[in-house]
Amino acid sequence: MDFVIKVGNAEKQRGACAVVGVFDSRKLANSAKILDKASQGYIRNLLTLGDMEGKVGTCLLLHHVPGTLFKRVLLVGLGKEQEFNEKSLQGVIGSILSTLQKTGVTDVALFLSDFSMKRSTNDWKVCQIVIQVVGSNYRFDRLKSNPDDETSSLRKVICYIENRAELEVCERAMHQGLAIAQGMNLAKDLGNLAPNICTPTYLAKQAKDLAKSHKIKADVLDEKDMEKLGMGSLLSVAQGSHEPAKLIVLEYYGLEKKDNPYVLVGKGVTFDTGGISLKPAADMDEMKFDMSGAGSVLGTLYAVAAMKLPINVIGIIPTTENMPSGKATKPGDVVTSMSGQTIEILNTDAEGRLILCDALTYAERFQPKAVIDIATLTGACVIALGNFTSGLMGNNDDLVEELLAAGEKIGDRAWQLPLWDEYQDLLKSNFADMANIGGRAAGTISAACFLSRFTKKYRWAHLDIAGTAWKSGKDKGSTGRPVPLLCQFLMTQSQVNS
Ligand code: BES
Ligand code: MN
Ligand code: ZN
Repeated sequence: MDFVIKVGNAEKQRGACAVVGVFDSRKLANSAKILDKASQGYIRNLLTLGDMEGKVGTCLLLHHVPGTLFKRVLLVGLGKEQEFNEKSLQGVIGSILSTLQKTGVTDVALFLSDFSMKRSTNDWKVCQIVIQVVGSNYRFDRLKSNPDDETSSLRKVICYIENRAELEVCERAMHQGLAIAQGMNLAKDLGNLAPNICTPTYLAKQAKDLAKSHKIKADVLDEKDMEKLGMGSLLSVAQGSHEPAKLIVLEYYGLEKKDNPYVLVGKGVTFDTGGISLKPAADMDEMKFDMSGAGSVLGTLYAVAAMKLPINVIGIIPTTENMPSGKATKPGDVVTSMSGQTIEILNTDAEGRLILCDALTYAERFQPKAVIDIATLTGACVIALGNFTSGLMGNNDDLVEELLAAGEKIGDRAWQLPLWDEYQDLLKSNFADMANIGGRAAGTISAACFLSRFTKKYRWAHLDIAGTAWKSGKDKGSTGRPVPLLCQFLMTQSQVNS
């Protein structure tokens, strides 16, 4: 897909299809007015027939509108003018794309001034449009022998702006949007891959490949290395599996090395059976997505490198399977983490925190500005927030605020849950420093409490993406979230886009 930013208005351009807006009720937006004038009232006349009110997301495709140089004009409903906002834009772009998908349109012209909003700038719109167009073109058919070819003929999206002074920022936003969208595609591919293919060894190979093609360094620690470091907690999860665990370390330097980095830690459980605390059979296939935190770290590092952000970022990915076997951990086992703290494993299905805690201790050596871990950590988070919102907790309110704002800005939102001291008591164990579970109540918070015991030496935040990393049902598949949130956060931190 090609994206181009051009300066111009609807009257003078030619092409396969122009998209112009209609507000509820039947009020023409800027470029719609221009085309209506050029066509001597053709569009306004049509609307009086009652074919379109302008309800948000509705579409009316016109052919050969007189007086215009476009072969088609797509009228798109924008809803009530005062109510049009960032959220509506997403819905509107979605319906434009699904309408065009049924046609032979190869290139489409969007006039950004029609999507007028109080706060949002054209560069923001460009970034959103690119992410959404690339996202809706995503297919995962590499494991099918005869891919369904329902692909759209759309090849090119032209965003028209009115003011030449904005050209440069809009073009930069376009490249940033592309980098983020491709980072999401990488995360989606890794999530969607079958768990017999996407193993810890496979993820390590992907990390190495990513490093080779970009300005990134990749190190892969094997089980022997981890033993030397004392990562008894991480290794206890791996011990039931035939697939060897890995600790992947990616380093991106957009600034001098001495500038302290941001560290992203992603949960990479390539399949979570629950271990001896075995999960029920229904929908267990979806536990191939339990490496989505890892996928989002790889996707974000890709995007950061593609944008050449002036910032240092380290990615740490603890990756393993969680399997039951004669060698697997048993409920009641006590293990010693790299931090020296001992853990009573009361439920082998609470494995994410067991691999993250050692990775979080490992993160200390980078003297991070901040550490953010990303994990499909608790089913309880899906109960609390559903599939729209990631859970967010941390030990530093400024960091949490910055992450919330980043998610809000790019449309990949999180919501904070309280990480108050009271909740720490849930993790009491009679036999070790802590238990790995805190009971059914406040399951998302007690999981974060567990992690907080390993993150005392730096500013830290935790994103629970159990509800947002993938979709179930007929659209089952990875979403690529929270790559946008993480990218926006790092863009803002590096002051490339604030
Ligand atoms: N990977 C799961 C969390 C999960 C479950 C994500 C369902 C999305 C959908 C995690 O390893 C897990 O099993 N967590 C347990 C924790 C419990 C044993 C304290 C859970 O949420 O049930
Ligand atoms: Mn589990
Ligand atoms: Zn898990």
